[in-house]
Amino acid sequence: MAQVVKGSFPVEKFVKVQTPFYYYDVDLLNQTLDLVKKESSANNVEVHYAVKANANPKVLSIIASKGFGADCVSGNEVKAAVEAGFPASKIVFAGVGKTDPEINLALEYNIFCFNAESIPELEVINELAAAKGKVANIELRVNPNVDAHTHHYITTGLNENKFGFNMDDLESVVKMIAGMKNLKLIGLHFHIGSQITDLSSFENLCVRVNDLQEKFESWGVKLENINIGGGLGINYEHPNHMPIADFESYFRLFAKHLKLRAGQTMHCEPGRSLVAQCGSLITKVTYVKKGKEKQFAIVDAGMTDLIRPALYDAYHRIENISSDADEEKYDVVGPICESSDVFDKEILLNGTKRGDYLAIRSAGAYGEIMASGYNLRRLPQGYLSTEF
Ligand code: LLP
Repeated sequence: MAQVVKGSFPVEKFVKVQTPFYYYDVDLLNQTLDLVKKESSANNVEVHYAVKANANPKVLSIIASKGFGADCVSGNEVKAAVEAGFPASKIVFAGVGKTDPEINLALEYNIFCFNAESIPELEVINELAAAKGKVANIELRVNPNVDAHTHHYITTGLNENKFGFNMDDLESVVKMIAGMKNLKLIGLHFHIGSQITDLSSFENLCVRVNDLQEKFESWGVKLENINIGGGLGINYEHPNHMPIADFESYFRLFAKHLKLRAGQTMHCEPGRSLVAQCGSLITKVTYVKKGKEKQFAIVDAGMTDLIRPALYDAYHRIENISSDADEEKYDVVGPICESSDVFDKEILLNGTKRGDYLAIRSAGAYGEIMASGYNLRRLPQGYLSTEF
C-alpha cells in the first residue's frame, strides 16, 4: 500500500454538507495566529489581517478575537471587519480607487488610517473629511520599485504597477498635504507583492524604506508608522510538513534591517500566511473517465470555486482523503465549460472512484473569497472544523 502523508479530515462527517465546500481547520488557524501574535508582540509590530484573503465571517471573527487589526480594500471589507469585531481604530484602508461612499463610510467609523495612493484621492479624502468636520489619518502608499520575485499578476511594488506614489513625487506630495487641513500624515505604506518566499525581497524593501526615512527627515517630516504590507508566502508543495509559515525569520528580518526611529511603530498586513494552510476545498468525484492515455477525475468543484490554478497556474496539492488504494495518475478537472478548468494534471492520487472526497489543500487564502457564480453555480460554503 502506498505511504502518503495526508492531512486529517473527518471524512465520515462530510455527508451532512453539500460539496464542494471549504473546510477550515480551526486548530491550525489558532496555532498560526497565536504564533503571529507572539512574534509580532515580541517585536512590537502591529498586525492588520488582509481581509481580502478570506472574509468568511466565521474566520474573520476568530482572527478578530486575537486582537489583530484589519487591512481593508473596500467599504464592504471595512464593514465586514467591524461586524466581525475588529476595532475600527485598528483598520487601515487601502486601494487605488476608493469611492466617495467608501471614504465616507470609513470616516464615519473613524478608522485608523487611509493608505492613500494618489493626489486626487488625497484631495477627495480632505474634502469629505472637511464636510464631516474630521481629520483623516493618512499613510502614503509608496511604490518602492522592489522586485518581489513572484508571479507577475501579484507583483505590486514595481514602477510599472498602478499602485502607490512614485518615490520622486513624494516631496511635493508632502508639501501638498501640509496645506490640507483635514489630513494628517502619520506614516508610509508599502506592499511589494504576494506569495514571497525569497525573504531577501523584504530585505531590499527595508533598504528602500531606510533611505526614504532619511529623505523625510531632511524635509522635517516626522512619521509615526511604517507599514510594510503583506506578502509572506506559504509552502503550497508541502502543507502537511510546513503548515505554518516561518514567522520567526520574517519578524527577525525586519527587526534587524528596518531602522525604525524613536517612537515609530512597524505595521504589517499578512493575508495568505495567516489563513491559506488552514483551508481546503473539499470536492467529490463525480466520474472517473478513462481516456486513451489518461484518466480524469472529474470533480464537482470547478474554477468557480477555486480560480487560482486557472488564473495564475497556481499549484495546490490534491489528496484523495477517502482512499488508501495504490496510487495512480489522474488529471483532476472540474465541470465548467472552459478548458482552463483543471486543478492539476498527471498527479498521483490514491486509487480514485466515483463518490470519493478529494481535498484541494492550502486553499484558505484567495479561495472562497474569489469564488464566482459562472455557469450559474452555487457559491461554495465555508465550514469550520468545529462545526463537524
Ligand atoms: N496589503 C496589500 C496592500 C495587498 O495588496 C495585499 C495583497 C496584502 C496586503 C496581503 O498580501 P498577502 O499577505 O496575502 O500576500 N489573489 C492572489 C493574491 C493577490 C494579493 C493582492 N494583495 C492569489 O490568489 O495569489
